[in-house]
Amino acid sequence: TLALGAQAQAAFPGDKPITIVVPFSAGGPTDRVARDLAEAMRKPLGGVSIVVDNAAGAGGSIGANKVAKSAADGHTLLLHHIGMATMPGLYRKLPFSVENDFEYLGMVNDVPMTLIGKPSLPANNFKELTAWIGQNKGQINLANAGIGAASHLCGLLFQNALQTQMTTVPYKGTGPAMTDLIGGQVDLMCDQTTNTTSQIEGKKVKAFAVTTSKRLTTPALKDLPTMQEAGVKNFEVTIWHGLYAPKGTPADVTKKLNDALKVALKDPDFIKKQEGLGAVVVSDKRVEQAEHKKFVAAEIAKWSPIIKAAGVYAD
Ligand code: MLT
Repeated sequence: TLALGAQAQAAFPGDKPITIVVPFSAGGPTDRVARDLAEAMRKPLGGVSIVVDNAAGAGGSIGANKVAKSAADGHTLLLHHIGMATMPGLYRKLPFSVENDFEYLGMVNDVPMTLIGKPSLPANNFKELTAWIGQNKGQINLANAGIGAASHLCGLLFQNALQTQMTTVPYKGTGPAMTDLIGGQVDLMCDQTTNTTSQIEGKKVKAFAVTTSKRLTTPALKDLPTMQEAGVKNFEVTIWHGLYAPKGTPADVTKKLNDALKVALKDPDFIKKQEGLGAVVVSDKRVEQAEHKKFVAAEIAKWSPIIKAAGVYAD
């Protein structure tokens, strides 16, 4: 790491910090991943300071666009999630191209989602929840972080699965959305375990299911049924996160960033933090730049028809 650190020092002179843009509010799951990752990448990048810039709005597309339009010098990066694969299908006039306006620096983790409800919701398991939903058609508020957010995608799949429409209440991130859910201002939300684990543990919200094919092992989440067990067929969504730079960032710079990412993903402290929140740190070939790009292209191909069938557009 020292050698890498010294080399990286050259590429990233300490005087200019690296900014990781998070396209959602502080305090949400994307922000959590970015701050943990920044901590773990600092040393392999020779101690350069890494700051997080929350550029929220429009379901994550504002922050992504900000980075796409930034100087390609390796000092402005984007930490984003599955939204990079859903925005192309959701936005007819996206001000950037996911496939052509970014350098792909490698994948970071995979994060399960949980279906949660306000504490006063009169249901204590998935069966009672679906009964309550049936009795309150047209009056249910489902929070998300805007069209293009992971919580939006999960909410879409959930409404489709139940063949019902809910009123969606968009926030600039599921951090602020969680505050309103705990306060009972909204009824339901599908959010990542990196944000929900502590609230479920603290019994601040009700939890009904996880969106992964297998149950989770995190102590606070292990008793939650999968959607499959709860009777919802082919409902599986896992949120992945990747790191990006503007197109045209020099190859020697993106390589140093990818090398530092690889060191960070093996950092025991980073792994412990992420696993404690139900996330799984990437340990396969998706950490490679070319594989990251291939994976996102495949995810765009996977989600676009599903989004088209749902007939949802952000613009
Ligand atoms: C999402 O739903 O896309 C994320 O939870 C947004 C966030 O990180 O706040």
